[in-house]
Amino acid sequence: MSSKPKLAVQALQASYGDVQVLWDISLEVFPGEIVCIVGSNGAGKSTFLRCASGLIVPRGGSFTIDGKDMSRAGPAAILQSGVAHVPEGRRLFQAMSVRDNLLMGAYLRDDKTEVLRDLEKIYEIFPILADRRNQSGGTLSGGEQQMCAIGRGIMGRPELLMIDELSLGLAPRAVELLTDALRRINKAGVAILLIEQDVMNALELADRAYVFDRGRVVKSGISADIAKDPAVREAYMGAL
Ligand SMILES: Nc1ncnc2c1ncn2[C@@H]1O[C@H](COP(=O)(O)OP(=O)(O)OP(=O)(O)O)[C@@H](O)[C@H]1O
Ligand SMILES: [Mg+2]
Repeated sequence: MSSKPKLAVQALQASYGDVQVLWDISLEVFPGEIVCIVGSNGAGKSTFLRCASGLIVPRGGSFTIDGKDMSRAGPAAILQSGVAHVPEGRRLFQAMSVRDNLLMGAYLRDDKTEVLRDLEKIYEIFPILADRRNQSGGTLSGGEQQMCAIGRGIMGRPELLMIDELSLGLAPRAVELLTDALRRINKAGVAILLIEQDVMNALELADRAYVFDRGRVVKSGISADIAKDPAVREAYMGAL
């Protein structure tokens, strides 16, 4: 693990109108790591990623990317500093082709030749997207849409890819394919911050984990230790 975090969050607070949903969230992701956030519905996981990608402005606290305060920098500057967000629900441009959806992820880049080379790399990681390149995003299956959303994230050449709900609603085979792809993407040097309903799968994939509960971090540590924690097992795996 490198000594300088890619993303470092200090005492982050967020609210929707008058309703506060995040309290004092502190979290770090180091280069090359896979970190997961687990927690029940409404715990504030998506809100946290929306803050970290600049979609909502935190009410208090701050976060740095490569040591620089980016908590009020906005989505484009955050993407440009190497942090990409694959949102909950995938949010593809339904009428746009798969290829154009992928290219949208590179909209801030001006290195055209490299962009096209990266597009080929995405097709190599997800061959089905190459077969579907001219099909519109809205006609893809759930698993294919998630591949396309992750591919779009990678097209921004991030050093940290933040994914909200990797496997929600997908069949086991698709989840397996996506998990393998994430391992490959991570091996190529991209850190991953993952939100995942399937707690067991997330803890198996990640190096470290944070447990969110009602807007707070209630536990954090090495994934293997979190997976053994009796309270975590009872709450999220239905077993002791
Ligand atoms: N746009 C919004 N306006 C008002 N309240 C919101 C909004 N989005 C989320 N909330 C509230 O903020 C809290 C945290 O929601 P969030 O979506 O971050 O949770 P989550 O951990 O991602 O849940 P899930 O596992 O169901 O996706 C919830 O109480 C939710 O109702
Ligand atoms: Mg969510």
